[in-house]
Amino acid sequence: MDRRHGLDSKGAWFWSSLAAGAAFVWVLAQTRQASDVWAVCSRARNIYTVDDERPRVNCVAMRGTTILAVGDYGDILEVEPFRPYAYLPHAFLAWIPEFVQVRSRPRVYQLADDSILVPGLADAHAHIIENGYMARLPLKDAESSKDATALVAAYVRAQPSDPDTASWVEGMGWDHTRWPGAQFPTALDLDAEPILKGRLISLTRVDGHARWVSPAVLESIGDLPETVDGGVVVRDEHGMATGIFIDNAMDLIPVPPWSEALMADFFNRTITESLQYGLTSIHDADTSPARIAFFRKLADAGRLPIRLYLMGYIESNEYWGRGIPRLLDYGVQGRLNLRSVKLFADGALGSWSASLLSPYTDLQDTTGLLRYAPDVLKRLIQQFHADGWQTSVHCIGDRANQIVLDIYEDTIKNDTGSNISAVWRPRIEHAVMLTPQDLERFGRLGVIASVQPTQATTDMTYAETRMGPERLATSYAYQSLLNSSSNHVLPLGSDFPVESVNPLFGFYAAVTRLSVDGSSPHGAAGWFPDQRLTRAQALKGMTYDAAYAAFAENVIGSLVPGKKADFVILDRDIMTVPESEILGAKVTATAIDGEIVYGSIS
Ligand SMILES: *[C@@H]1O[C@H](CO)[C@@H](O)[C@H](O)[C@H]1NC(C)=O
Ligand SMILES: *[C@@H]1O[C@H](CO)[C@@H](O)[C@H](O)[C@H]1NC(C)=O
Ligand SMILES: *[C@@H]1O[C@H](CO)[C@@H](O)[C@H](O)[C@H]1NC(C)=O
Ligand SMILES: *[C@@H]1O[C@H](CO)[C@@H](O)[C@H](O)[C@H]1NC(C)=O
Ligand SMILES: [Zn+2]
Repeated sequence: MDRRHGLDSKGAWFWSSLAAGAAFVWVLAQTRQASDVWAVCSRARNIYTVDDERPRVNCVAMRGTTILAVGDYGDILEVEPFRPYAYLPHAFLAWIPEFVQVRSRPRVYQLADDSILVPGLADAHAHIIENGYMARLPLKDAESSKDATALVAAYVRAQPSDPDTASWVEGMGWDHTRWPGAQFPTALDLDAEPILKGRLISLTRVDGHARWVSPAVLESIGDLPETVDGGVVVRDEHGMATGIFIDNAMDLIPVPPWSEALMADFFNRTITESLQYGLTSIHDADTSPARIAFFRKLADAGRLPIRLYLMGYIESNEYWGRGIPRLLDYGVQGRLNLRSVKLFADGALGSWSASLLSPYTDLQDTTGLLRYAPDVLKRLIQQFHADGWQTSVHCIGDRANQIVLDIYEDTIKNDTGSNISAVWRPRIEHAVMLTPQDLERFGRLGVIASVQPTQATTDMTYAETRMGPERLATSYAYQSLLNSSSNHVLPLGSDFPVESVNPLFGFYAAVTRLSVDGSSPHGAAGWFPDQRLTRAQALKGMTYDAAYAAFAENVIGSLVPGKKADFVILDRDIMTVPESEILGAKVTATAIDGEIVYGSIS
């Protein structure tokens, strides 16, 4: 008996050990299996998906880098590995984390009722490296030329005892339209500060379309050409250069190229800031070959902390589309794309260099300038199109927009074989000043208008002075552009560093058409209030529409199962709070590919 019992208990011990071991392995397996699944839920259904089928939901669940499920509590509980908890009352799912954390159970985070979760935000038009560059010596706050000069002097004084007075001093951000008299500054203004005398100084205007240099720079250049195609050397009444170089004339200034280390520093500054503001993808609006190589290296090494969509740029009349390979979902996690090119049709309104059909209201002897002869632009655009590149053309003035729409119309007519909206998606960047016919033509042709709402609220102080009331009525016409768009898209951007990196400024400007202090030339209802976007339209412009403009609407841009797990959590509901409270919202977490890259979810 004893023996048998002994045998039996040995057998039981064996079998129970085996069972325990198997259970342990099973639990481990469950732990492993479930550890990459998690969900964020909101009792207030403050998850805005930008998906028409289910615009607001309780939960979004992630598996690894992608979205696993989107829906209300009941929907999520039908999906593995949440199903075992389906017997619980639905709302209980949200409360579990506050009780116990079983490691094998998918983790569920509960948002505070004031918070919201939206798809990762995109900036459809920005200048990543320039933004870091401007951060070194920013001149945005200068109220006059004298002010700007003083800022430069203070910067030079603060440099660690650098005796190398032959090195260049570079800054960015001045805006003479905000200064008394609204006149361009001059080289001589910079000599007012003794410490700047004889120094090589180059200061880029806030919009990147003009540079202000010191007398030493003028001397170093020596003889200047009489005229510059697509640019202007500003001269005084005696024909002497004043120190302002506009658009293509900026190429005459021999500023040294940036080293890779400097570029890395500029990049780091911008991306750190971008993630804090909830950006998960950025369209870089003119990427030189050196920068393409730089981004590519980061992508290869898996060190690209954000999604980038590049618009390659070479200032050249020669076609270069075959010299640089396109990059599609390139690098670790496919975060890098290069399939668009940037071309500049004209300059900017601030420096009277946007190309107009009839003269400027406040400068009757000029209609601005074109940076390419129309036939050269046409040849370039059609060649890029033929080689599979998207074209993104900078157009501010009504003439620039007209010329490029003509080229696009012609190209589309001639190309009946391919599906334009599937393979080309031609873009116009800014699309500021449009004749009523061209406003309609954008929609009819399916040309994507890539606009920056803060451009409207910055320009509103002087746009009427430049173009007069009649032309203004169909300019900055964002609601009309969206309304007429055959693709129903209006991607939004900031053009940073021209404007802030914080996309909430664009959201606020789009829905209010007011300055930050709540005013506008047309009062508290906003500047041309008919052109305001709804909040849903603005959010879609910063997510889905931007993705569409980058051929990525099946990958990012809304919260739909199978898309990348890119999202942002804000501490207040920007979709419903009073307008005056929108800008007070703070990002508490930013996630890219399912990884929290800024802040935290608690
Ligand atoms: C910026 O540089 C710091 C220090 O090297 C690094 O820890 C951080 O991850 C970088 N951030 C980005 C966005 O590249
Ligand atoms: C239009 O297409 C024809 C035939 O493919 C081609 O020969 C011609 O150069 C094209 N014209 C333009 C303006 O692209
Ligand atoms: C063109 O492509 C778009 C998007 O891929 C698709 O929705 C549309 O039906 C296509 N049109 C034609 C005529 O094939
Ligand atoms: C939108 O389109 C409709 C019909 O085409 C038109 O009547 C309306 O005025 C448009 N709205 C705006 C803001 O352009
Ligand atoms: Zn730009």
